[in-house]
Amino acid sequence: MKRNLRVLLGVFVAALFSGQSFAAGGSAIPEMLKAYEAEGAGNFTADGVKDLWVQEHKASDGKMRSCSTCHGTDLTKSGKHAKTGKVIDPMAISVNPERFTDPKKIKKWFNRNCKWAWGRECTPQEKGNFLTYFKGL
Ligand code: HEC
Repeated sequence: MKRNLRVLLGVFVAALFSGQSFAAGGSAIPEMLKAYEAEGAGNFTADGVKDLWVQEHKASDGKMRSCSTCHGTDLTKSGKHAKTGKVIDPMAISVNPERFTDPKKIKKWFNRNCKWAWGRECTPQEKGNFLTYFKGL
């Protein structure tokens, strides 16, 4: 019985550590920045991104929307999806180590969210600036 418990604990600890190393918050950011550079963007800056985050743009249906419409303004807190009401986990790496760890996920959501919130795709420069801002949160 005791032995089983110890084995169980070992598995639990191993899972904890492997989980931690897998989810190094922001681990996919350098790779994404390189890809945007290959598309001609560069000198990424977090300057002004805070304002851009809340800046309202006219979406394709004429409604005014921003990134904060779903993600909120305090990125260390959960957001709420404007359409479905579903909770969106915090964007800040400091409180959510799963953030920006998967290039596919980043691509997919930049694509969707920029179109939905801004009515157009974000440019490689804008995406690089966003990620540079997120990296420091
Ligand atoms: C309609 C609601 C909504 C709006 C508006 C929105 N997002 Fe999102 N965003 C989501 C959802 C839902 C996810 C995926 C769920 C998750 O990652 O928690 C997500 C995920 C992301 C991700 C992926 C994060 C990761 O961990 O890889 C990025 C990047 C992102 N959003 C950026 C933006 C930017 C930039 C804007 C403004 C142009 C924006 N979002 C506006 C709902 C929204």
